[in-house]
Amino acid sequence: MHPLQCVFQAQRLSAPWTSMCWVLLRTCRAHSSASSTSCASPEGKSSAGVQKDFSSRLATGPTFQHFLRSASVPQEKPSSPEVEDPPPYLSGDELLGRQRKVYLETYGCQMNVNDTEIAWSILQKSGYLRTSNLQEADVILLVTCSIREKAEQTIWNRLHQLKVLKTKRPRSRVPLRIGILGCMAERLKGELLNREKMVDLLAGPDAYRDLPRLLAVVESGQQAANVLLSLDETYADIMPVQTSPSATSAFVSIMRGCDNMCSYCIVPFTRGRERSRPVASILEEVRKLSEQVLQLIRERHNICKQIHLPAQSGSSRVLDAMRRGYSREAYVALVHHIRESIPGVSLSSDFITGFCGETEDDHQQTVSLLREVQYNTGFLFAYSMRQKTRAYHRLKDDVPEEVKLRRLEELITVFREEASKANKASVGCTQVVLVEGFSKRSTTDLCGRNDANLKVIFPDAEVEDLTNPGLKVRAQPGDYVLVKITSASSQTLKGHILCRTTMKDSSAYCMT
Ligand code: 5AD
Repeated sequence: MHPLQCVFQAQRLSAPWTSMCWVLLRTCRAHSSASSTSCASPEGKSSAGVQKDFSSRLATGPTFQHFLRSASVPQEKPSSPEVEDPPPYLSGDELLGRQRKVYLETYGCQMNVNDTEIAWSILQKSGYLRTSNLQEADVILLVTCSIREKAEQTIWNRLHQLKVLKTKRPRSRVPLRIGILGCMAERLKGELLNREKMVDLLAGPDAYRDLPRLLAVVESGQQAANVLLSLDETYADIMPVQTSPSATSAFVSIMRGCDNMCSYCIVPFTRGRERSRPVASILEEVRKLSEQVLQLIRERHNICKQIHLPAQSGSSRVLDAMRRGYSREAYVALVHHIRESIPGVSLSSDFITGFCGETEDDHQQTVSLLREVQYNTGFLFAYSMRQKTRAYHRLKDDVPEEVKLRRLEELITVFREEASKANKASVGCTQVVLVEGFSKRSTTDLCGRNDANLKVIFPDAEVEDLTNPGLKVRAQPGDYVLVKITSASSQTLKGHILCRTTMKDSSAYCMT
């Protein structure tokens, strides 16, 4: 449930992520690490020029359709084990992992989590296997942090433990190799290789593409290092592999490096110059994540099939004035895509009526969007100007109050008609309901939520417990129960309870 909320809440609370991506766009494009071509710097431009440039980019910026399918991204390389052309002293075969097992350990910030995912993506493509068991590892890679002295000390301590593992390794096995990745490799460079002779490999934050070569050199018994920093490496074409099974969130990295030069901070020296990932690469990663969320909602019965997709208006002209970053058509395309991905999904939305410059025709387009999408739940508001906002400074709050309220009433009526129609389709069905407690209006009725997150009210009666046949129980908050739906309004369903059940036993009872 958690990732779903994160991803879609972002749309609810702020401008769509598409515009956010544009704000962060810089002119750099990624090249391979071998290239040191510097990027066109925006720094020389006047702020008015930058603003104009920004506005025109925003106007021609990505729509939700880009989000869905047409983001033109740098092509990911095929997933078969494959590496770049080998250097003359190595054969192509030596660059491959040949099933050697890599153990990755991450220290420090979220950038290091992302670096670990990038490094693993590169190694996986080269034919390495990953292990979470230190004892069976052939290669141990520490993704390190240099931010404070203590962070480095932790890694030195860990290296001492690993040295014991290395020296005790039976001769019958391939020698254990230890590598230091990231900030500490960058900061200490040769010192890490020379001190105590326990490290075989160094790769700075911009050198992960070189890992297969570095590991091949290490395999030949030598130490190997690449701590070159790049002006343009963003790993744009490398899709991070998010591997943690317990993760409840995913991070999308949008930039690397830092130019701020805060007087106490090592980061500009370990991670190099600031550069942003190309927007298409960010979009593609977010698209993949969103697709995974949709797939999870479809597959898992314990995640309710409901998505909040705030439209705000059905008129592309008003959406533009609101700076939402998508058109009506793009929004409708997204709705279709979600409905194809999750049959029976319930949609809710927010709408603002009477936004600055909204005409009667714009309003009618919002009415038609409500009819077209047929939301199950809606949150409708009359526009109220807020100080400090862009609309306050630049636009005229020119829709009279009574017109705003009349349009609001019209939207509420249309929304109710459509929601009632949608909800009435459930009458006669048996639904799984998660009990929340007593109904607000009566202590003889219970209230719960169905798979569409709609309120279901039903009399509190003694029923059989499906997992203990013969046992009579009263449903408690947190229980799953089966309810036969007998009537529906625009906001609630009513019915009668059949039995207590479990999520597992009840998965056959799908929403209609
Ligand atoms: N006037 C009216 N409604 C607003 N919302 C946000 N700001 C305003 C405003 N100034 C509504 C939007 C948003 C929801 C949380 O509140 O519909 O999605």
